[in-house]
Amino acid sequence: MDSLAHVERIQCTAEFPVTQRLHVPTMEEYRRQYDLSIKRPGKFWAEVAADFTWQSPLPADESAILSYNFDLNDGPIEVQFLKGVKTNISYNLLDRIIARGSGERIAYFWEGNELGEQKSITYSELRLEVVRFANALKRQGVTPGDRVAIYLPVTIELVVAMLACARIGAIHTVVFAGFSSQSLADRMVDARCTVLVTADAAFRGEKFLHIQTIIDEAVAVVLRRALPLKAIILVRHFAASANRNKAAYEATMAAYQSPHQALYLPWDEVVRTDGSDDECEPEWLDAEHPLFILYTSGSTGKPKGVVHTVGGYMLTTALVFKHAFNYVEGDIFFCTADLGWITGHTANVYGALANGATSILFEGIPNYPKPDRLWAIIDGYRANIFYTAPTAVRSLMKYDEKYVLAHPMKELKLLALVGEPINKEAWFWFFRTVGKERCPIVDTYFQTETGAPMIFPVPGPVALKPGSATLPFFGILPVILDENGKEIYGSDSGFLAFKQAWPGIARTVDGNHERFEQTYFAKFPKYYFTGDAAFRDSDGYYWITGRTDDLLNVSGHLLSTAEVESALLNDKRISEVAAVSMPHAIKGQCICVYVVTKNGYIYDDEVEKDLRNLIRKTIGPVATPDLMLAVRGLPKTRSGKIMRRVLGKIARGEQDFGDISTITDETIIDHLIEARMAKSD
Ligand code: PRX
Repeated sequence: MDSLAHVERIQCTAEFPVTQRLHVPTMEEYRRQYDLSIKRPGKFWAEVAADFTWQSPLPADESAILSYNFDLNDGPIEVQFLKGVKTNISYNLLDRIIARGSGERIAYFWEGNELGEQKSITYSELRLEVVRFANALKRQGVTPGDRVAIYLPVTIELVVAMLACARIGAIHTVVFAGFSSQSLADRMVDARCTVLVTADAAFRGEKFLHIQTIIDEAVAVVLRRALPLKAIILVRHFAASANRNKAAYEATMAAYQSPHQALYLPWDEVVRTDGSDDECEPEWLDAEHPLFILYTSGSTGKPKGVVHTVGGYMLTTALVFKHAFNYVEGDIFFCTADLGWITGHTANVYGALANGATSILFEGIPNYPKPDRLWAIIDGYRANIFYTAPTAVRSLMKYDEKYVLAHPMKELKLLALVGEPINKEAWFWFFRTVGKERCPIVDTYFQTETGAPMIFPVPGPVALKPGSATLPFFGILPVILDENGKEIYGSDSGFLAFKQAWPGIARTVDGNHERFEQTYFAKFPKYYFTGDAAFRDSDGYYWITGRTDDLLNVSGHLLSTAEVESALLNDKRISEVAAVSMPHAIKGQCICVYVVTKNGYIYDDEVEKDLRNLIRKTIGPVATPDLMLAVRGLPKTRSGKIMRRVLGKIARGEQDFGDISTITDETIIDHLIEARMAKSD
């Protein structure tokens, strides 16, 4: 029998290499700092702030550092951190690190999609690129508060574009480059972006992606909606690619004529390298100035533009990065998250640079050209911290272990996870096969809205329990609530909420503060409600058990069932649809849709193919359903509400439907079960 399978608690001391230089050596020290951060947040955060550069003095009174209102009965929800104090995050991430003598340190190693495609950039070089691009943006008329959309594969240019915006006070909104043209257009219109930074084409594994086609489709939509788009800055990424099939696409690239040619400006032409643009005084911004908008799914189907601010996000990401990974100078950090998600923003960009860390950016996919790519990268760059998602672990576990074992990964000191609950089997495989039982696994729980991990085992003192995110980080006060919003003490399950504000929490939903208030603060007055359910065990450890709303988590990406449904309803042959989640061995969860066609239309393979394409085009490939069931009707209550609970149970093959006395047509249940059974594997 598997020697560790029964182990419930793993203490990461002594034999763990991470413990050699611990920032928090003991539980007593963890508790001391935690208590201070909760009881005197002003004092705690002022100490963290002392390490950063501010253009005006911090308030002497600690109660003026962090203030907030989480109670809608007392007025609007708001959080203010160091309000009135001026800073610049690009200055703090680059100039401040360089001034400490680390200008020659590598900020990023970049590994492209192809083997051997590598670049690196030091802190000084990165600063120069940022400054030049900041000047280029200014020439396009970008001023503080303007919004810049970024739709790029994982490249150094993406980081440069983010930090250039931050330097001049523009607000970036990075859209994951796997999203469809429609999703990009919706986000650009919602955020009122005046400039877009993108690339011509890229390879993702074997697949060729002509990004410019997606951009041109999106641009047609945004111009129709009267968005005053001034420029599209285009990285000529295709020319630099070393893909062996590149020649096959050269003619396509050369022949492509954009209908919006006049808007395009090649990156290498807007960036001046003659020395005339090599300085750009940072824009000194209020700590509460918005830094970026990042879209995340919402229950209504319309994505929410979550707004993070300069000062609070900077300190939270910096502190979390240092502690979650026990970062010390010289560490090489590798996180597989795409920069288009919050983890990419927080770990790979802002948290890493604020600590002067060296990170690896990887453009490709884990199984190309072989399923050992991540292990080869860890070995090749001597990475010692590896941060990924449970889905990636599960998808790599299915290959022969030889792919991992071919790479000794001797330097690894710490593994970390994010994005979704991890099952024990995957946890132990990661622990043993990748980490050789020497590396703690830091399971970090957070959300786009929370900015940085909130619950995770501080490496060293906090014993691990496979599957649990364990204990709250400094400044975080989680609670478990019952249905009536009453706090539950001791070991129990319920709704996971936070009782106190921390500097890095999102401030609003862009352009819709009421939606922000209603989504996170209305269900349980006085608390920020995460939308997640959790169990707290007798050691006070938190176990995140999943969403309580209509959001589902596919491969660590949140999607809303409403978004999938509204995409499908654009097909004129469809009268009704319902999307629900189902467990999936690799993705964690996947989507099952029930489809009812209009009279006169037959559901056949062709319709199914069209519907799948419609979702890919409207949202993106990540939202493609795994199971589509053609049915004659949906189960509804007498008031006309779709009984999603029943649909979810049928999709999952469960039989106990609970109370279905309000159903209008009882015969529909057998029909749905039959449709489900017909598609069982
Ligand atoms: O349900 C939780 C899950 O992911 C949601 C947040 O998704 P998103 O905003 O896209 O950010 C993902 C990356 C931080 C949460 O509400 N989640 C995130 N981390 C974990 C998790 N579930 C379990 N364990 C985690 N470590």
